[in-house]
Amino acid sequence: MKLYTVSELLSQNNFAQEVEIKGWVRTFRANRFIALNDGSTLNNIQCVVDFENTEEAILKRITTGAAVHIKGDLVESLGKGQNVEINVSFIEILGDSDPETYPIQPKKHSFEFLRENAHLRTRTNTFSAVMRLRSALSFAIHKYFNENGFYYVHTPIITGSDAEGAGEMFRVSSLDNEHLPKDDNGKVDYSKDFFGKETNLTVSGQLEAETYAMSLGKVYTFGPTFRAENSNTSRHLAEFWMIEPEVAFMDLAGNMDLAESFLKYVIKYILDNNREDLEFLNQRLLDEDKTKPQAERSEMSLLEKLNFVTENNFTRLSYTEAIDILRNSKPNKKKKFKYIIEEWGADLQSEHERFLVEKHFKCPVILYDYPANIKAFYMRLNEDGKTVRAMDILFPGIGEIVGGAQREERLDILKQRMAAINIPEEDLWWYLDLRKYGTAVHSGFGLGFERLVMFATGMSNIRDVIPFPRTPQNAEF
Ligand code: 4AD
Ligand code: MG
Repeated sequence: MKLYTVSELLSQNNFAQEVEIKGWVRTFRANRFIALNDGSTLNNIQCVVDFENTEEAILKRITTGAAVHIKGDLVESLGKGQNVEINVSFIEILGDSDPETYPIQPKKHSFEFLRENAHLRTRTNTFSAVMRLRSALSFAIHKYFNENGFYYVHTPIITGSDAEGAGEMFRVSSLDNEHLPKDDNGKVDYSKDFFGKETNLTVSGQLEAETYAMSLGKVYTFGPTFRAENSNTSRHLAEFWMIEPEVAFMDLAGNMDLAESFLKYVIKYILDNNREDLEFLNQRLLDEDKTKPQAERSEMSLLEKLNFVTENNFTRLSYTEAIDILRNSKPNKKKKFKYIIEEWGADLQSEHERFLVEKHFKCPVILYDYPANIKAFYMRLNEDGKTVRAMDILFPGIGEIVGGAQREERLDILKQRMAAINIPEEDLWWYLDLRKYGTAVHSGFGLGFERLVMFATGMSNIRDVIPFPRTPQNAEF
């Protein structure tokens, strides 16, 4: 007999057939009705137990969380809320679940509690929906690039170049911390370490991806990245996944077009393919909103927000225009911002980004041409000599979701910018080679995958959209 999934059975209309299924008990009601879930869908299938002809000892073991194997006839359901159910003729308990200690009871649990039980939290509706969407989004990302002629490149996780400048790094070493080899100056001698030099976990695959763009043309990476910053916020992880396309012969305008079409595509994909989970999360947010004061409620529902992004153009404006808007804004004049914008050149904080997106434009915004000294050395210097061809994409409720740039392709200017921030040329000799041999205009960006999943699911804490979050002082599981 074929083993079905709940999802397959719920869409059947071929009744009076015997079916077989395995899953976990969500609830067991009136000694009779099992709500069974196997992760294939948000919905449970109802399995009706003939309690008069089932051993008492077995009935007792049908508890929330138990794994069971069921056979029975698939029949049209008379009950509300489902079309089909199973009349159980055989039930076997595969794995018991002690109701006294099983943490995931059929009631509302706080997200904090569920984070402590991250190994079991995907047995709840909310987390199973979020993780199915995470999977669908990552598939859609590969699909988009595949359909558009990009190659998938696996850039290294352990990197020997510590000059990327995107953030603090985690050291990778096999030295014995208790007995570190020292050189003549009393410094740790990394020539004795595994790789014969200092190595770290990567903060971004960009620089290596650039080398492949300059031969394969259109490439992307999609992998884990690591940042040892001590930022304990609802939008930062120490280990997160990043998507980084890099394209030869593409300028900043092309980069913006690519990012916008890509984001619209992946969101459209889940709207078309993951309706059930999205509708559940949409309702979850509406219910949560009802408990909040009027002023804090969102203007759009989750589904409205997702549709809005796919149907409207992102607003594009320069950093300089953004600074003018911010300087003249109410919260700036009334000193409501924590960081008051006074002069051109100021770095934008997330409060400013969110003001632009949520209050001023009320739509996704692409900011470009930032001051050179608040952005990375590899971004192409503009003719004005003070701004670079950078772009950040800002999303409602999230702030920065994408950071990217047209890259500096001119060898002399790149060298000057490296010298200005003391990056030795030897450290990035291979990166400079790209500018020596067949250099060309090229661009790319990085999308923070978890920030995309937050936006797509309406979850407000980044710890709740990755299976096992790594944050300062926390690496359980
Ligand atoms: O803006 P970032 O630092 O850009 C880069 O790393 C470039 N090398 C990307 C490129 O051009 N190829 O990071 C890119 C994105 C951010 O916009 C944000 O969405 C996400 O990565 N991000 C984080 N997400 C979660 N936790 C963190 N600590 C993050 N830091 C950045
Ligand atoms: Mg950034």
